[in-house]
Amino acid sequence: MRIVLLGAPGSGKGTQAQRLIQAHGVPQVSTGDLLREAVAQGTELGKRAQTIMAAGGLVDDQTILGIIRDRLARPDAKSGFILDGFPRTIGQADALKALLATLGQPLDAVVLMEVDSQALFQRLTGRRTCRTCGLVFNVHTAPPPSPPPCNGRCTTPDLFQRPDDSEATIGRRLEVYEAQTRPLVEYYRHAGLLRTVQAEGDIDEVTARLNAAIAGTAA
Ligand code: AP5
Repeated sequence: MRIVLLGAPGSGKGTQAQRLIQAHGVPQVSTGDLLREAVAQGTELGKRAQTIMAAGGLVDDQTILGIIRDRLARPDAKSGFILDGFPRTIGQADALKALLATLGQPLDAVVLMEVDSQALFQRLTGRRTCRTCGLVFNVHTAPPPSPPPCNGRCTTPDLFQRPDDSEATIGRRLEVYEAQTRPLVEYYRHAGLLRTVQAEGDIDEVTARLNAAIAGTAA
């Protein structure tokens, strides 16, 4: 299975990708997560990306493509992948198409996850992530278990709010999505790859809709 999850910040790409990787045994490739790892490690890339991410902008295409090329070259991506948060510009989409043609691994589908902008705002301001186990919660819709642990492995939950989930930055991220990423909807519709999923409501129901939308694409 080789799919792209396309959608605005907070549309649930990460949440649903986590469920798909368990069900389909392919890795989640999240450029946001890879950039946050670089920030945490304090690499040159991380230092550059940190300022851009905090302001809600996009890291340049060339940098992102380097990250993706390296990630897709790893052995676990040979059997497929779920791209989460990539591509985000027409330039990234064109480069992805060329890269996958070289690898002989064309996309099966691009799933657009549609959520009303008011709901996006509430989801993003309410998101909390556990530093210990990485699980994502939401103070409004998916509160962390009380008492801990978050899951079988995590005994010391340490919840934090992403720096780019501040109200000012969320507004900017949504503007950037509309201007630079929304055009990919028509791009992939034209390519015959687009499927659309209503991504509001119960998380399990969204997963069921997503699985129905991608049914038949798994290798
Ligand atoms: P990235 O990490 O990709 O952020 P994003 O696209 O803005 O998406 P999010 O992670 O915010 O949201 P999500 O859709 O994954 O939602 P989630 O499942 O967490 O990118 C961060 C930054 O890195 C970018 O701004 C940019 O600077 C840079 N970057 C990354 N990729 C780049 C690229 N390709 N090119 C250039 N720059 C790049 O859910 C959100 C919340 O909602 C959670 O709390 C969750 O519990 C809750 N939730 C989920 N589903 C539901 C539901 N059905 N009902 C109620 N609540 C729900």
